[in-house]
Amino acid sequence: KKEGLFYNEALLDFAVAEVRQQTLAALDQLRRQLPVKVLPVVAGQALTTEKIYQRKNPSLISQTVAEVQMADNAMAEKAIQAAHKAYASWKKVSATERAAILDKAADLMLKKRYQLMATQVLEVGKPWAEADGDICEAIDFLRYYARHMRELAHPLRVGHAPGEISQYIYKPRGVVTVIAPWNFPLAILAGQVTAAIVTGNTVVMKPAEQSSLVAQGLFDILKEAGLPTSVVEFLPGYGEEVGDYLVKHPLTTTIAFTGSKAVGLMILKNAAEVKAGQQHVKRCIIEMGGKNALIIDNDADLDEAVDAVLYSAFGFSGQKCSAASRVIVLDEVYEKFTERLVEAARSIKIASSENPDAYLGPVVDEEAYTRLMNTIQQAEQKYTVLFKGESPVGGYYAPITILGNVQANDDVAQNEFFGPIMALVKARDLDHAIEIANSTEYALTGGLFSRSPANIEKVKKELEVGNMYINRGITGAMVERHPFGGFKMSGIGSKTGGPDYLRQFMEPIVVTENT
Ligand code: NAD
Ligand code: ALA
Repeated sequence: KKEGLFYNEALLDFAVAEVRQQTLAALDQLRRQLPVKVLPVVAGQALTTEKIYQRKNPSLISQTVAEVQMADNAMAEKAIQAAHKAYASWKKVSATERAAILDKAADLMLKKRYQLMATQVLEVGKPWAEADGDICEAIDFLRYYARHMRELAHPLRVGHAPGEISQYIYKPRGVVTVIAPWNFPLAILAGQVTAAIVTGNTVVMKPAEQSSLVAQGLFDILKEAGLPTSVVEFLPGYGEEVGDYLVKHPLTTTIAFTGSKAVGLMILKNAAEVKAGQQHVKRCIIEMGGKNALIIDNDADLDEAVDAVLYSAFGFSGQKCSAASRVIVLDEVYEKFTERLVEAARSIKIASSENPDAYLGPVVDEEAYTRLMNTIQQAEQKYTVLFKGESPVGGYYAPITILGNVQANDDVAQNEFFGPIMALVKARDLDHAIEIANSTEYALTGGLFSRSPANIEKVKKELEVGNMYINRGITGAMVERHPFGGFKMSGIGSKTGGPDYLRQFMEPIVVTENT
């Protein structure tokens, strides 16, 4: 390793027997503790509530993984008041000390990686390697933001007029409400929360209902790393209840949200309404969905393209905002590509995520399963089903489904379904393919398989996406190497894991001194 460079945490190699054994042991250990209780923690006190959310293992519905006591609005009020109070002292803690807590927390995550992995496998049904990837990404976020904050803490000298010194300095904003999704249950939540605290803010952390146990793991690690009480308040609860309450609260200065377009837009609207006593215009960092396309050019390496398309579309059952749900194939190569794709799809194993060789597991919950099964059923009436996979019983297993002859404006080519459904769209030529790719309201990820330098250049210029990938899959952005985030209806805000992300949690101020 070269000194001074940032390195991503290395993934586990599950081909190594010891790694497999440790994973199985961690899963066994967690199974023995089920159901785990998850409680809100406000001002250092664990609170009990009457409202219990029973979180089922998506791979094995009969198993309750967590009993989550869901916070109510009175607790949300307490949490935000306590976070507001804690802000007065936390903002005075040096950036170096704040960053050190993130580094320590990253080390703890590494130490507990098997335990954290087992939690994701059982709570949200992530296959092993996907869960490990999420934990490595969380570690990367912590280390990257710690390192970046240490840099940003140095005041920047601006101007050169004689007789004055002007400094450009970043200050925190206050209480940040963090509202996170379940699909990258540790990485996204940890990224949002630690970006907010390392910049000197305090946080009310509202995880997704479905991944409250993973969130509790993060909260415990932050405490163990030495984070003072109330710098982060842990508020598992329902989005439409406590999430909404926090968004509308006058003490919330900043909202870091990742989730669906519908909720993201509602939050933007609610945050714009000024409440009595509110002293800030709320800043919203809103990351939403995608309807991401991979374009297959006439001269693409089809072997590579098939593998990348399958993984981009069906990794974690298509439940990634970055997933390829549209594949736009040039006419000349459509039949050949489709044939190979379908043959390769036949070998995909869908099984319990607890199984080491499950390529993909279940979808997250009953609501997602029912919605996806209905979508697939309706699509079967309308499109050519090129392939429909197995769906084992006992868990929320939605079959992978590849639909052919889809038109660019069809529902399945325009709306995000967040599941293992792929729409194949035929294009006359590359211009047509780009036009189709750009025809949705989203602009998150996208890519091209081509051997033609001219076509690659054209796509680089014309494809409207936040993260573009050439001759590779379109998921799996890595912190620092691939800062991540979209535009259009995919969100507003700077890219996570990139050089502008932390700045959003701060106010730049300029101090000019007459000398
Ligand atoms: P979701 O929008 O249903 O929920 C996200 C969070 O919002 C949850 O914590 C939920 O409790 C909360 N919430 C729900 N209603 C709320 C309300 N009225 N007020 C305040 N908070 C509320 O999304 P999800 O199902 O958890 O995640 C899937 C979605 O997230 C997909 O659309 C996916 O594309 C998107 N996503 C985007 C990114 C990105 O970086 N752009 C990353 C991951 C996921
Ligand atoms: N950062 C995640 C990915 O790129 C969403 O797949």
